[in-house]
Amino acid sequence: MEAGARASAAHAQRLAEGGGRRRVTIGRGLALPEPDFAHGVALYLEDLSVSFDGFKALDALSLTIDAGELRCVIGPNGAGKTTLMDCITGKTRPDAGKLFFGSTIELRRFSEPEIAQMGIGRKFQKPTVFEPLTVLQNLELALAGDRRARASLFARLSGEQLDRIDELLALIHLREHAHRAAGQLSHGQKQWLEIGMLLAQNPRLLLLDEPVAGMTDEETERTAELFLSLQGRHSLVVVEHDMAFVAQLAGAHRTVTVLHEGRVLAEGRLAEVQADPQVVEVYLGR
Ligand SMILES: Nc1ncnc2c1ncn2[C@@H]1O[C@H](COP(=O)(O)OP(=O)(O)O)[C@@H](O)[C@H]1O
Ligand SMILES: [Mg+2]
Repeated sequence: MEAGARASAAHAQRLAEGGGRRRVTIGRGLALPEPDFAHGVALYLEDLSVSFDGFKALDALSLTIDAGELRCVIGPNGAGKTTLMDCITGKTRPDAGKLFFGSTIELRRFSEPEIAQMGIGRKFQKPTVFEPLTVLQNLELALAGDRRARASLFARLSGEQLDRIDELLALIHLREHAHRAAGQLSHGQKQWLEIGMLLAQNPRLLLLDEPVAGMTDEETERTAELFLSLQGRHSLVVVEHDMAFVAQLAGAHRTVTVLHEGRVLAEGRLAEVQADPQVVEVYLGR
């Protein structure tokens, strides 16, 4: 086994034992709060600021994502899009402002693993599936990390879990590839597998940073269909530069947010923000 595959297998083993990043046990008996979406809000940011050596990556940013909403976030490089996701997931600590998950959980009080465990899933640009394992095994691992289903890898899965895996395989278009090693999949298929692994953990909010970078046009279109099918059950924030993809996701009615210099430059239907002279100036006109 080459070094990368060995590290990956070791990581898989740790995950299976429950010590990996997808399953974290917080101080015994100390239950994390359940997010409250009853007021229709999945995420609420008010005047959120982050500086790196005096440079304001987020500058009093305010933003609300509704429960079940699919929101696209666009903007030039350096606008603060990835930093925004880093703050939500607890990877970066904001200097000031409010950051609520649902109407009751102030995320600034929680650690990165706690935030993941409370139901915020994040997809990074580069797929991080376990290449030597099959598609099915990857999904089994992710399911084992589900904060509710306390199963372990290679233990017998319950009927309910098998149903869930089958449902996920269909959703991510990988049913025919279930027994192939993940390393043999195309780039786009690996991205879908990773999305399936995130979904196996039942996140309430999914953050997707440039999910279709490097995908073919057909894969990109199917990814948009997949995300559209997730809205309602999950809230999604999608950062992307591919405007055809954004147009497919946003349709005529969904809200699109344009970030620039750490702030919201414009927000509205895609046609409205595309017609905004400031947006054309800083982003679309280039
Ligand atoms: N960890 C960091 N240390 C220093 N500067 C950072 C760090 N993360 C991001 N930045 C800076 O913050 C700004 C916003 O970056 P980023 O959020 O990655 O933008 P985007 O994802 O919109 O392209 C950039 O100028 C970037 O160089
Ligand atoms: Mg980025």
